[in-house]
Parts: sequence; C-alpha cells; structure tokens
Amino acid sequence: MTMKSLPLRYFKEIDNWDTVIFIYNAALKEIGTKIDILNDEFQHRHRYNPIEHVKSRLKKFESIEKKLEKHGYKTTIVNMVKYVNDIAGVRVICSFTSDIYRLADMIASQNDLQVLSVKDYIKSPKESGYRSYHMIVTVPIFLSDCVIDTKVEIQIRTVAQDFWATLEHKIYYKFEGNAPEYISRELRECAEMVGHLDERMLYLNEAIAESKEEDMI
Ligand code: GTP
Ligand code: MG
Repeated sequence: MTMKSLPLRYFKEIDNWDTVIFIYNAALKEIGTKIDILNDEFQHRHRYNPIEHVKSRLKKFESIEKKLEKHGYKTTIVNMVKYVNDIAGVRVICSFTSDIYRLADMIASQNDLQVLSVKDYIKSPKESGYRSYHMIVTVPIFLSDCVIDTKVEIQIRTVAQDFWATLEHKIYYKFEGNAPEYISRELRECAEMVGHLDERMLYLNEAIAESKEEDMI
C-alpha cells in the first residue's frame, strides 16, 4: 500500500503546538541527515569536505507569532504552517562559493525533495550587503499512516559570509533595525570585502588544485 502524501496544513492532527514541534523536528533530522550523507560522499569520493559545519534550529513560538502579526495574520496553527516558511531552518557553512552551488544542486536534484523557492543573495546581495543562498524545500515525513510534506528553509553561505551575517544580525537587534548611517555604511563596505575575499580564496583554492594535478602528471 502506498501512503498518501499531503502538505502539513491538511494533516488532520495538526491542532496543537506540540505536533508542530514534532513534525518540524523530524524535518530538521531528515534534512540534516541528507546533508551529512552528501558531505560524507564527497569525502569518500574526492577526499574533500565541502561543508565546514551545519546548524539547525526551530523557530520559537514568539518569533512565529511576531512574523504572522507583521504580515497581518492571526496566530493559528494553520497560518503558521501555511505562511511561515522558516519554522524549521538549517544553515550550512561552506568554505568556498563553488561549494555552495554544488551543494545546492545536489539538494535540488534529490527526488524526494521539492524546491519551493530559491533566493540567490550571492548573485544579488541585499541592500544591507547580506550574501547567502536560500532555498525553501519540502521534505516528506513518513508517519504510521500518512506522509507529510514539511517545509524547511536552507541557508547556505561561506564562512566569511556567516561571520558578516552574525555580526550584522547582532547590530540590527541592538539598534532595533535603526543603526546609525555610519554603521550601516561600514557594514556594506565589509560585505563588499567579504565578496572580494571569497573570490580570492576561491581563486587560490583553484590554483592549488591545478598545481596538484600538474604534480600528478
Ligand atoms: P524573513 O521574514 O526575515 O524571514 O525574510 P523573508 O521571508 O523575506 O526571506 P529572506 O530570504 O529575505 O530572509 C530569510 C532569512 O535570511 C532571515 O530570517 C535571516 O535569517 C536571513 N537574512 C535575510 N536578510 C538578512 C540581512 O540583511 N542580514 C542578516 N544578518 N540576515 C538576513
Ligand atoms: Mg527568517
């Protein structure tokens, strides 16, 4: 018997916060394992780790509530699973931008995952200077009598982009979104430097790889 797959908002038992946590936690585990396996495979086949580290988190109830409020929706479980795409979030930190695109392609080509949207803030950085690659995917969660497609936000960025984003986030919170102009300007300049640094590090890494190949000939 094949089980029917349904989006989370049509799951009849999704009527309380505990169920939300249970399902999204399962989604974090599934995506975490997929990413781990891709990294292991890379290590196995190419003796190389594209991933530095992975962090995952469930969004807090209060933050979900705030986000719904901001968009004019009532705090209901249905609105949460329908309108908040980042209840489950996974952040993958890579060394090089080339790793980001490689990993994103590998994730997108997994048959059981569905990519709902992609935002490439590396090709088109945000006004703040923010650079990262974002995907919203759904992953099937197999329960005893049905399969639930559950949304996960995956953010993929380099070590340098992560360093920048962490500091910018702290500053954003400290000033509640209204940082003095000189700080915002400085942050934008640092973001540019991060962009250049990533390009140069990638170039160096490619040069090293080429010289290794020549050694082997
Ligand atoms: P949110 O409502 O903030 O989730 O944004 P969104 O739904 O328009 O999606 P977007 O892809 O723009 O941003 C999703 C997430 O990326 C945010 O929750 C942050 O974690 C991160 N992000 C986006 N912009 C910035 C930024 O300017 N600075 C930092 N530090 N993080 C950002
Ligand atoms: Mg968010």
